[in-house]
Amino acid sequence: MGTVKCAFVGCGGIANAHLKGLRILWENGIRTFEFLAVCDIDIERANRMAEGIALFQGYKPKIYTDVDEMLEKETELQAVDICTTHNEHHKVAIKCLSAKKHITIEKPLALTIRYARMILESARENGCILQVAENYRRALSERTINWVIKSGKIGKPKMLFWLDIFDRPWYWGWRDHKHIAGGGWTLDGGVHFADLFRYHIGEVEELYAVSKTYNPMRYRDRENPSELVKIDVEDTTMAILTFENGVTGTWVLTNSAKGKEKRLRAIYGDNGSIVWGEGLYIEDKYIPLEELEEEYLNILEESERERLFPLGIKDTIAIELKEFFDAVLGKGEIETTGIVGLKDEAISMAVYESSWINAPVKIKDIEECRIENYQKTLM
Ligand SMILES: NC(=O)c1ccc[n+]([C@@H]2O[C@H](COP(=O)([O-])OP(=O)(O)OC[C@H]3O[C@@H](n4cnc5c(N)ncnc54)[C@H](O)[C@@H]3O)[C@@H](O)[C@H]2O)c1
Repeated sequence: MGTVKCAFVGCGGIANAHLKGLRILWENGIRTFEFLAVCDIDIERANRMAEGIALFQGYKPKIYTDVDEMLEKETELQAVDICTTHNEHHKVAIKCLSAKKHITIEKPLALTIRYARMILESARENGCILQVAENYRRALSERTINWVIKSGKIGKPKMLFWLDIFDRPWYWGWRDHKHIAGGGWTLDGGVHFADLFRYHIGEVEELYAVSKTYNPMRYRDRENPSELVKIDVEDTTMAILTFENGVTGTWVLTNSAKGKEKRLRAIYGDNGSIVWGEGLYIEDKYIPLEELEEEYLNILEESERERLFPLGIKDTIAIELKEFFDAVLGKGEIETTGIVGLKDEAISMAVYESSWINAPVKIKDIEECRIENYQKTLM
């Protein structure tokens, strides 16, 4: 099998998790990639990443601080792994795609749905592979929950409860600024959850949401709460979701809840319920998630087990990167394509748009950019 000649753009936190994924692949003998270059506007981060890659690859990729220069000089590049802040996604992606590089890009696909559509269009025009790095659904626990639901163990799904209620009084850097992040946790973490809603239940048809900032002043330093910084993203979202198949969902995210913290992530069907972090409840029976995971792995067909957990690897980012390299080499399909990323993001954006106009919105209207009042403030 050949190798995919690749580069990183953005060498921060998640790129380091990608580096770990690459190392896992390499150590398992999956050496379908080679990193020729790394790029970050912060040269020290780029250098650290290049040194990390050199440790297993055997040589240090070239270092760049400008993506245009990298694309111009690295003529052998076939693919780029984009791990920048959200505001840069569409700019960097379209440059790479226009230079005919396949891309894997971190979630959310773009700052707005309009930009996301531009990325999809560029991938289509240039005949390039576009993978959105949506790793949550690749976890053994999520694959198992999906099997539990799809095999009818809870009966027909009826209700979704997704409540994350906690307090995060400190400042979180660029993630707390709308023009860089596009929104708060409803988009950053929420796009993962939206992907899980779609993966486990199906398409959301409509939602109504209220989103607010209850606590705009955050401690700059977690250890030393003397200096305060003003944030301009929402810290609280409460939404009611209607799925095309009749399921109703309650989605609550807040990082501004003092005192009691609470998390409940569960899908209820007409026979029972599956609860994240716990397991399956049917009448008076309870089966813990770990037992379900074991059962699921045992009944998986060999070829499917190998696709989902190659060589038994459980690191979700290693798995997604392998899928990307295989697809570039013509040996497989992308599961979390650009359209998956766009549809996931449309659910998060629907929350902001619904809250903006104080009315329910159809997800299709968000996907097709017929409603973009909130998003216009980002463009
Ligand atoms: N899949 C996951 O579980 C997960 C987890 C965390 C972050 N993410 C996603 O990863 C992306 C990056 O997040 P992070 O936590 O690594 O942020 P980060 O701030 O740690 O890293 C971002 C890096 O991008 C660099 N950068 C910004 N613009 C650039 C440009 N034009 N060219 C080159 N480099 C540029 C910055 O200098 C920085 O080093 C975001 O899309 C985020 O949502 C995904």
